[in-house]
Amino acid sequence: METLKNFSIMFLGLFLLISSTLLSLTSGEIQRHQFVIQATPVKRLCNTHNRITVNGMFPGPTLEVRNGDSLEVKVVNKARYNVTIHWHGVRQMRTGWADGPEFVTQCPIRPGGSYTYRFTIQGQEGTLWWHAHSSWLRATVYGALIIRPRLGESYPFPKPNLETPIVLGEWWDANPIDVVREATRTGAAPNVSDAYTINAQPGDLYKCSSKDTRIIPIDAGETNLLRVINAALNQPLFFAVANHTLTVVGADATYIKPFTTSVLMLGAGQTTDVLIKADQRPARYYMAARAYQSAQNVPFDNTTTTAILEYKSSKKGNAPKPIMPFLPAYNDTNTVTAFSRSFRSPRKVQVPTEIDESLFFTVGLGLNNCPPNFRRSRCQGPNGTRLAASMNNVSFMLPRSISLLQAHQQGIPGVFTTDFPGTPPVKFDYTGNVSRTLFQPSTGTKLYKLKFGSRVQVVLQGTSIIAPENHPIHLHGYDFYIIAEGFGNFNPKRDTSKFNLVDPPLRNTVAVPANGWAVIRFVADNPGVWLMHCHLDVHITWGLAMAFLVENGVGELQSLPAPPSDLPLC
Ligand code: C2O
Repeated sequence: METLKNFSIMFLGLFLLISSTLLSLTSGEIQRHQFVIQATPVKRLCNTHNRITVNGMFPGPTLEVRNGDSLEVKVVNKARYNVTIHWHGVRQMRTGWADGPEFVTQCPIRPGGSYTYRFTIQGQEGTLWWHAHSSWLRATVYGALIIRPRLGESYPFPKPNLETPIVLGEWWDANPIDVVREATRTGAAPNVSDAYTINAQPGDLYKCSSKDTRIIPIDAGETNLLRVINAALNQPLFFAVANHTLTVVGADATYIKPFTTSVLMLGAGQTTDVLIKADQRPARYYMAARAYQSAQNVPFDNTTTTAILEYKSSKKGNAPKPIMPFLPAYNDTNTVTAFSRSFRSPRKVQVPTEIDESLFFTVGLGLNNCPPNFRRSRCQGPNGTRLAASMNNVSFMLPRSISLLQAHQQGIPGVFTTDFPGTPPVKFDYTGNVSRTLFQPSTGTKLYKLKFGSRVQVVLQGTSIIAPENHPIHLHGYDFYIIAEGFGNFNPKRDTSKFNLVDPPLRNTVAVPANGWAVIRFVADNPGVWLMHCHLDVHITWGLAMAFLVENGVGELQSLPAPPSDLPLC
């Protein structure tokens, strides 16, 4: 009798254990937040300016969730600009209506309006972020999105003592919206930023900034997981911490086979998770970021932002100046190449080997000849032209009266076409001395249609038109494997043998080498309209974008549901 009772208690316990594990595996929590978009006085570099923020915070609120959790973020627009919020890197499986890019998946939230973004984090762990996806508002409207493992699960590395988001940004003394409007009017390159920032503070190498320099305290022997995010509008950045080695463990919310480095390079939009151990003499050490500038003879912000890693046992008060890290030269492409080649998935992954869609997209700048009815003041690009950018020679134009996703779902004609070319209309020596006749792109709202489930390969080929440059190409709604990178023109005969189909990194943004190429692969398993673009906002402004239209598959689980009832109207 006793044994039977014991047995049933044991059985009950086991049952409870199993069911609670199942529960935590299937259903996460729902987190609700409100983001009020509002003008807020912000003092930087000696002056106070009104800037658009979320809830008056700069940077905006950090969202902390677990894999499997759902987010409901009500965005209330109390600013005088249209706004949308994009959850950069979130896969948004069948929740394309919550992705956010203005006129792609929704019309903007007008001043006075609101919209609730609803989505679930599925199978992603690490660091992502959120930002405005309307004009250049993301200059100040951004924040970290931290995704921890499910309850009861742990990191694939020893648990760090501390975790700190390190959000790199750019600061303009001028209103960034005015900067982009002016550039759009003149056709010239916009002004560059006045400072870089770490967690929205420039740091003590800038005027009027030392007392607000960010301090990151640490105890000797502790390990901190730094979640580094490049939220800068227009600049890839190097990042290093004096005297400390960084162990890279993740990027774009995917784990990476750990490797050590003294310096990171993040293309705009990319995130990198690193472990840093306080194993040096107790003191104060700068963490610093400055430009990686691959385009030559182009003005850029060459300043340096700093924060201070401060050992708690180091002497305060009249402490000596912090130690400065070594940062690579602005144009040090070799360091960037070595760094990006170190990325591997932790184990063998399922890279698609059969390809249904083999695409080849050029990415680069261009020049538009000035229309005859334009004044000279509107033709301030090189030799009286207007600067442009394109993919496969198409300069992408957003619709203005409805979003692409609504037009697609409601079958509204005349908003877009599905003839985005799968290969460049003209083949040329992309990284050579390109003839001036090939500088002018066409303009259009062209999408590339993908059947649900198709296996896609895209060769992203940089061009040398005007200035070869490292372009951070970001795909919405997907992660992709980066199976190869190289310089010069991609050559299938020579370069296919270099494909890593074993353990390539999975990311949402690839830094395509200056004067080079990158090859990505993904499976089109998420129906909707998904923007792919250069994450340098100045290049999106000029048209360096396209969009994939991924069709529905079979049945509800492979189809995009109807839009939420509060989707903003145009
Ligand atoms: Cu973070 Cu369309 O981008």
